[in-house]
Amino acid sequence: MKRFTAVILAVGLIFSLAACQNQDDEPPSVSTPSAENQEPAASAEPAEQDLTQSEIPETKSILIAYFSLGRNADSPKDIDASTSASLVMDGEEQMGTTEYVAHLIQDNVGGDLHSIQTLDPYSSDFDTVVDQNHEEQDAGTLPVLMTSDLDVSQYDIVFIGYPIWATSAPQAVFSFLSQYDLFGKTLIPFCTHDGYGAGSSYKDIADAVSGAREVLDGLAVEASDVPDSEETVAEWLRSIDIEQQSETANQSGETAITISIGDTVLDGVLYNTALANEIQQYFPLTISMTGFGGREYYGGVDFYLENAEGGQKNFENGDITYCQAHHNMAIFYAQTDDPDLSVEVIPIGKVTSDLGIFHELPGSVEITFALADSLI
Ligand SMILES: Cc1cc2nc3c(=O)[nH]c(=O)nc-3n(C[C@H](O)[C@H](O)[C@H](O)COP(=O)(O)O)c2cc1C
Repeated sequence: MKRFTAVILAVGLIFSLAACQNQDDEPPSVSTPSAENQEPAASAEPAEQDLTQSEIPETKSILIAYFSLGRNADSPKDIDASTSASLVMDGEEQMGTTEYVAHLIQDNVGGDLHSIQTLDPYSSDFDTVVDQNHEEQDAGTLPVLMTSDLDVSQYDIVFIGYPIWATSAPQAVFSFLSQYDLFGKTLIPFCTHDGYGAGSSYKDIADAVSGAREVLDGLAVEASDVPDSEETVAEWLRSIDIEQQSETANQSGETAITISIGDTVLDGVLYNTALANEIQQYFPLTISMTGFGGREYYGGVDFYLENAEGGQKNFENGDITYCQAHHNMAIFYAQTDDPDLSVEVIPIGKVTSDLGIFHELPGSVEITFALADSLI
């Protein structure tokens, strides 16, 4: 086997964090309780972004992106599936080995398939592809991919599938990883090979997407075993607990979170909105929160957000909100006889556990928002 030169692509993610405002000077996220400072309910502006459950955009939480030579080579149909390890028959359909595994994953957990394809196809001659791959690996070339309308922002879990090429992944996979923003996502590699295993591919992929939320244990299937790998794939998915995640993730598109207050851990969800996804990138997030008006705990954050648009001047119990004007987050836990806010807040999620604890908290508490172990 020829020497493999590992190519590690650092994905540079730069966040411009503005300085934290002085919390001593920070007003609460809402109006003061004095009547003269309150806008009457009748004149409250209508909610511009009242994210009720039915309006939350539906998400497809799982993406299965894969590269297969059969999808990337000149005249792949000329290759005989019965003699080539690179093609598998799926019923009447002939498909790449890795592509077949991608379909098995989809059969188990749902999600969307995405074929990673280079603009310029590879040769259908094996030796030519081997040579070209070595050139690309040695030079760190990132082949240009076909344009695609793929929007990875709507996915929480991204499977990355590929054939092992010279003990790593084809460079086109690294093109994909560098082109799409996978920050904060759960990545799951899988590969097929001709007997030499996954090589350095898992590490190379993990290094190339250092901003990922986590990289789960991968699956490597020898090409000759692929046609009979249904149970292997299903067992692997069970072992990484992905079935349970996907079943519920597809139902709502919400992300399960925990809200920790001292020893108490409450459950909650983040909506699948651009703003909530942006805030999620700062999780685990601990905020010093102050009780206010018998209805909310609020506290300033030290990051600025790009997607804070719209808002509403009312709330529902359990709402977790972001307030652009006061640059803070709040948890609302009780309606009061004066529920109208003086500034707009944007719901980004909600507490789903019982809200009783908030009635017993001291004036100031540290509250930590974190991703739960599984997505719902
Ligand atoms: C350029 C090239 C390099 C390869 N290098 C390896 C390798 O290092 N180790 C290995 O076990 N298989 C290697 N293979 C075999 C493929 O990984 C294997 O046939 C794979 O299942 C093909 O998947 P696909 O049909 O989805 O493209 C290589 C194949 C090609 C074309």
